Amino acid sequence: MQKNVSLKNYNSFGIAVTTKYLADIQDIKDIYQLIKEFPDEKKMILGGGSNVLFLKDFEGIIMLNNLKGKEVISEDENEVRFKIMGGENWHNLVMWAVAQNYGGIENLALIPGKVGTAPIQNIGAYGVEIKDVISQVFAIDMQTGKEVIFYKQDCQFGYRQSIFKKPENKNKYFITAVNINLHKKNYTPNIQYGAIQQVLKDKNISSPSIKQVAEAIIEIRESKLPDPKKIGNAGSFFKNPIVDKDLFESLASQFPDMPFYKISPSKYKIPAGWLIEKAGFKGKRFGAVGVHDKQALVLVNYGNASGTQIQELATMIIDKIKEHFNIDLEPEVNFV
Ligand code: EPU
Repeated sequence: MQKNVSLKNYNSFGIAVTTKYLADIQDIKDIYQLIKEFPDEKKMILGGGSNVLFLKDFEGIIMLNNLKGKEVISEDENEVRFKIMGGENWHNLVMWAVAQNYGGIENLALIPGKVGTAPIQNIGAYGVEIKDVISQVFAIDMQTGKEVIFYKQDCQFGYRQSIFKKPENKNKYFITAVNINLHKKNYTPNIQYGAIQQVLKDKNISSPSIKQVAEAIIEIRESKLPDPKKIGNAGSFFKNPIVDKDLFESLASQFPDMPFYKISPSKYKIPAGWLIEKAGFKGKRFGAVGVHDKQALVLVNYGNASGTQIQELATMIIDKIKEHFNIDLEPEVNFV
């Protein structure tokens, strides 16, 4: 275990805080040992660090999930079931599945982070969420030191939500592995999103292969989302808010161009990126921090920003959106 380590290279925002200890978890035994040896130290589990905002130094142990490996559990003509260790890189897994022509996760290409943290916020993009392919999540309860298996129905998956994201479960479960089911035959990729259809149309592709869908997704993401290796960010900073019918109708009459998704007869989801752009923040820079110029839902660190500076910008945006639209924006990123 290393002592007094900078976390700059371990979070995609590139915030330079320090951790008292950094533990590289490469084997499940390392987790058991750490729980036994350091029962009183505060612990935090980190995957790719692509959904956190560090506000201050961490006075405890950061446990890096570097558990590697994947195996086929069972397979038939139509489906293949895998167990994938939590420290595997998510995008590499997607690209591997695409190369085998296994369908189900191609729309989740280029999402940063690791397999073991993907279920926590039920990662999703372009009409697909990880919950669509997950069958089981394997975890170690950090309090009891025992293995716990969550079946899909136990995970309470929702939009950017799961049992693992509940405040009372924060850092309670170290996700060691995930079982996912992918399709081999009789599979049609999900291309319902307009942006995908547009890219495919431009290429004259009418019934795309899994690989062509992945390529389209990569093209769309690269055109809108900044590469965290070049400019610090954590993807979408806020969740898309869900509002009641009354508020939705009053906003829709005021802003006829407002995009929305009807999610039930009384609930509507409105893209936070559109609200933030409409409030005038898109592409605006405030010293070391700013709002991305191609997707207003993404806050960026231009250089040596502190977590607090990003948080201040987020608060300013939340206040403006409340004032303009009477909507409460909620961060999607975890503040530590
Ligand atoms: N929009 C604007 N201005 C902006 C950004 C978006 O007007 O600056 C409008 C777009 O024109 C579009 C709508 O808002 O009509 C939705 O935009 P987009 O398709 O880019 O998706 P999003 O709702 O902003 C969500 C996810 C993304 C995911 C995309 C694609 C959340 C919080 N974010 O963004 O996830 O990639 O859909 O499915 O749900 C992430 O979680 O880090 C992430 C990038």
